[in-house]
Amino acid sequence: MSDKHTDAHRWWRDAVIYQVYVRSFLDSTGDGIGDLAGVRAGLPYLRKLGVDGIWLSPFYPSPQHDHGYDVADYCDVDPVFGDLAEFDRLTAAAHRLGIKVLLDIVPNHSSLQHPWFQEALASPAGSAARARFHFADGRGPDGAEPPNNWHSMFGGPAWSRVTEPDGTPGQWYLHMFTPEQPDWNWRNPAVGTEFERVLRFWLDRDVDGFRIDVAAGLFKHPALPDSPDPEADARTRDSVNPLAWNQPEVHDVWRRWRAVCEEYTARDGRERLLVGEVSVPSAREQAKYVRPDELHQAFFFDLLSAAWDADSFRKVISEAMQDIAGTGSTVTWVLNNHDQVRTVTRYGEPTPEGSGLGPARARAAALLMLALPGAAYIYQGEELGLPEVIDLPDDVLTDPIFRRTGKRARIRDGCRVPLPWSGQASPFGFTSGVEGTKPWLPQPDWFAEHATDRALADTRSFWHLYRDSLHLRALLPQLGEGTLRWLETEPDVLAFVRGDGLVCAVNFGTTPTTAPVSGVPLLASAPCPDGVLPGSTAAWWVAHDTGL
Ligand code: NOJ
Repeated sequence: MSDKHTDAHRWWRDAVIYQVYVRSFLDSTGDGIGDLAGVRAGLPYLRKLGVDGIWLSPFYPSPQHDHGYDVADYCDVDPVFGDLAEFDRLTAAAHRLGIKVLLDIVPNHSSLQHPWFQEALASPAGSAARARFHFADGRGPDGAEPPNNWHSMFGGPAWSRVTEPDGTPGQWYLHMFTPEQPDWNWRNPAVGTEFERVLRFWLDRDVDGFRIDVAAGLFKHPALPDSPDPEADARTRDSVNPLAWNQPEVHDVWRRWRAVCEEYTARDGRERLLVGEVSVPSAREQAKYVRPDELHQAFFFDLLSAAWDADSFRKVISEAMQDIAGTGSTVTWVLNNHDQVRTVTRYGEPTPEGSGLGPARARAAALLMLALPGAAYIYQGEELGLPEVIDLPDDVLTDPIFRRTGKRARIRDGCRVPLPWSGQASPFGFTSGVEGTKPWLPQPDWFAEHATDRALADTRSFWHLYRDSLHLRALLPQLGEGTLRWLETEPDVLAFVRGDGLVCAVNFGTTPTTAPVSGVPLLASAPCPDGVLPGSTAAWWVAHDTGL
């Protein structure tokens, strides 16, 4: 039996966490930008959906060059999103409803406006203030060439040159993302000490844990040598430069952070969660990050990037289960987040409304993910079957990737459009502003079909599928933590058994196949006649007496 019913303090092992992209969730102040009070107003909706917790995207003071992933003050709330008192109200309200609260912490880089970076700019080369970041002299005559050839993840050189306090062209600083996001130098102990203070600041405000941004980052190769393939990160939009990511020293940081969390757990028995955004080359490498004294969990992105076919899904699921075994963690599944094209669009033809096979496959994938052993993360709007908005005009795009590369490929605004809550026209109840207030990104007219009021009223909606599966997860001991056993199936089908006879099957093909279990499914992503599993459909059955 899953220990979710007996071992409440290990809640995270099979928790379903809802990612709130704060600026696009719900706007309570009428400025067209979502905020913390809006999140608080949405809590009953999330409680009804049945999630165990929320992860709040960064809401700290920030000039918003990368929507809050450029943090100017790690211990406050940007006035656009509220203030600390509102944060406390939100956390208390969430806890009253039994919803955990995770924050997004960004330790790899800060913001140009962080006071320590400002101090570094005002201080001379070689100063203690500069040693908290990666400042270095340039190469070539007059130091006019960057210190090495690395490129940033979002395109362009990973170094920018500063003007020294005396007005002369000076040193360079490293930024693996935008120039507005200078990387911290974690080889300087002051940085680690400061982040420990930040962790405690929020733990003292009763948060239940942290999603850690770029958790395979932090340390760079100590000599910062040239890379044989400097544009690899930008080309793949992944952390593949072996000199810039996944350095062995980072594990010491996670051990320290885990010890801080354990200290809080020792006081009240409640486990605090560290879940890492760990982009590393293999599941085996990822497993190192979730050893028993490091992070509790790391997102398993291979499911998200798997092509829609049975073999790919089976391979990534098997690898994850194998590599996680023995680490003390559980696999942390994810299909959508604020950086990726939404499943409805990814799995289908790229039509503006995301029609075709996309929605059916996205529903099937959701049912599959929620039947897998471990924890799962849902990105806001996923429960509404929101497609990606692929035709935003250039002049509204805000993703720094577009600004830095001039290319629309894989930009992230399309999955960040403010949620539709009600009504027939934008702003669809998203903002409390006076008539004419525009959401920060324009919502297409077809968002009406996905508004939460319609979704709640229609039992065939994505919302009901997510709600029903989350409620069954909470009830059925077979679901959540544990193992799975694959069943023999036809080539396009994946089927597995959880615990005592809970069968999940997915037909990745487009033609109906024989269901692995007869009888009416407990839950299905599309109508399933007895004994049949239609194409692009997943279903759950309880098969107690069949020997499965
Ligand atoms: C990963 C975050 O998910 C993404 O949104 C952000 O741009 C980068 N890290 C840099 O912080």
